[in-house]
Amino acid sequence: MKIAIGCDHTATVLKNQIIKYLKESNIEVTDHGTYSNDRTDYPIYAKKVSLDVQSKLVDLGILICGTGVGMSIAANKFNGIRAVVCSEPYSAMASKNHNDSNILCFGARVVGLDLAKMIVDEWINAEYHGGRHQQRVDMIDNF
Ligand code: RB5
Repeated sequence: MKIAIGCDHTATVLKNQIIKYLKESNIEVTDHGTYSNDRTDYPIYAKKVSLDVQSKLVDLGILICGTGVGMSIAANKFNGIRAVVCSEPYSAMASKNHNDSNILCFGARVVGLDLAKMIVDEWINAEYHGGRHQQRVDMIDNF
């Protein structure tokens, strides 16, 4: 599995910890930055990760900012991107099962490392259920 990841300055430390965690699970990671704590703008990284997911260069994307909210708003501007903000594992799992989410966002000011790992685990391991959910995803795609 390949995952593209990006963050802004609020989340560089957490992003690096999540990258380490993913690599320990033999997941290939493309790190789009940011790489320091210097102030920057989250849409830059939301775009890079969204384009990778959109073009199927990677299977999934992860975006981290202060809250995850700005990242998700930006990522959802890209056709075919279904980005979700999750602060707990149940919604992360359900967002895959029901909504076929392909980018997971969370906030470094909201969740700690251990909770972030649980959210990531549930999300990566959950499967899309398709069926009745597909017609709803199609309805959104046709907006
Ligand atoms: C940066 O201060 C903050 O606005 C950003 O990380 C994010 O939370 C936006 O949604």
